[in-house]
Amino acid sequence: MPYISFIIQYVLRKSDEEMATFRLEGIELHISGHTDVYEPSDDTFMLLDALGDARGRALEIGTGSGIVAIWLAKRGLDVVATDINPHALVLARANARRNGVALEAVGTDMFDGIRGLFDTIVFNPPYLPTAAEDITDDRWFDASVNGGPDGQMFTRRFLAGLKERLSANGAAYIVSSSLSGFPKKLPGGLVGRVVAEKKLEFEILGVHRIARP
Ligand SMILES: C[S@@+](CC[C@H](N)C(=O)[O-])C[C@H]1O[C@@H](n2cnc3c(N)ncnc32)[C@H](O)[C@@H]1O
Repeated sequence: MPYISFIIQYVLRKSDEEMATFRLEGIELHISGHTDVYEPSDDTFMLLDALGDARGRALEIGTGSGIVAIWLAKRGLDVVATDINPHALVLARANARRNGVALEAVGTDMFDGIRGLFDTIVFNPPYLPTAAEDITDDRWFDASVNGGPDGQMFTRRFLAGLKERLSANGAAYIVSSSLSGFPKKLPGGLVGRVVAEKKLEFEILGVHRIARP
């Protein structure tokens, strides 16, 4: 599915809330935003494009607006979505209702309190390298983008907890940026390959598919 196939169409502006209609693989999503929640962007759309073979029971870490989780639910997957940002959880639930799908949205830190195994695990992490002096006082913006000094802080935490939650034949999909890089060796003998790449003005984004060998 080529990246360009993702059509974005702004359809409604209502007070400070903007709703956009997205279409991918014939599925139409109506997603509204919130000033304290990550707005779907190039990385989001690229991730969606790479999820064509996602199946089964799914977990999305850091769901933001819920767009990825809702798209998976629309495709028939049973989805649990998490975020550390309470505004994101409220928005993701509202967006799920708006699109007529069930979404279990859990407020937690990464995999904390998440039980069971998942066939599909997805994460578009905060991945920008951020020095201590660059941290803003905008807490929820920071939570969306700040990947720690080398940008890989949440990527490493995700990879460390992944195997325990991934079913035997499951696959995880995680976004990376050339600004932060990606760990060369994966923990627990997991193997990964890049399944999508996109060159932007200042970085190259990638989606890594990770599974057991
Ligand atoms: C780059 S945004 C991605 C949002 C959405 N999945 C998308 O692709 O548009 C990263 C998301 O991770 C969430 N996040 C940051 N730290 C987290 C943590 N420790 N546990 C769970 N979610 C976290 C942020 O609040 C934010 O919603």
